[in-house]
Amino acid sequence: MKIKGFIFDLDGVIVDTAKYHFLAWRKLANSVGVDFTEEQNEQLKGVSRVKSLEKILAWGSITLSDDKFTELMTKKNHDYLKYVDQMDESEILPDVTKVLAYLQLKSQPISLGSASKNARNILKKVSLFESFDAIVDGTDVSKGKPNPEVFLTAAKLLNLSPEDCIVFEDSVAGIQAANNANMISIGIGSSEVLFEADFVFKDFTEISTEFIDMLLTEELKLKNQS
Ligand code: BG6
Ligand code: MG
Repeated sequence: MKIKGFIFDLDGVIVDTAKYHFLAWRKLANSVGVDFTEEQNEQLKGVSRVKSLEKILAWGSITLSDDKFTELMTKKNHDYLKYVDQMDESEILPDVTKVLAYLQLKSQPISLGSASKNARNILKKVSLFESFDAIVDGTDVSKGKPNPEVFLTAAKLLNLSPEDCIVFEDSVAGIQAANNANMISIGIGSSEVLFEADFVFKDFTEISTEFIDMLLTEELKLKNQS
């Protein structure tokens, strides 16, 4: 059995914060007169706070001063943190804890690989901070997904080569980042949206211990690497 690195995205993979990001961005978009659909939201998943606001403003052909831009980013995060403050273990998505426990039982290293600058805070809120051997978040990287920096940094911290790492992601940008890092990409969500992933599951309840054993024992051929 090989040692593999398992890298988890946070928002929409470990916890259902994707819905809180959506609510906070929609409120902000609407406040500057921009409609905000579920499809547009999909394009913001995995994308940094700055890039997300840039996209929303571009959709509305809006140009702002730097000060106003910073003010809106602060506002969005303020709204988002109101949801985060209410979080506890009950917000961990189904069977995430089970998969983490199985990987720990098999002595497999685990890292976080998130674009969020709030990631450490959220992991503490849901009592999962101690479950990770390494944490890489939006405060540790300069290039956002789909750039592979976040996952390559995680691999380095785990002392593993990228080819021996497996990424769980719910966003298109994140799957692309994993593929760009030459890692196995596992989409969590809809296969129609995450068609670039090596594997897709609706959620962790669909991920069996047999599947994880297969990841640990077989040489997998990557189908989507750049
Ligand atoms: C990603 C989310 O994990 O983090 C994005 O999918 C979010 O929606 C990004 O914009 C940055 O998060 P934060 O918490 O730093 O604003
Ligand atoms: Mg995500």
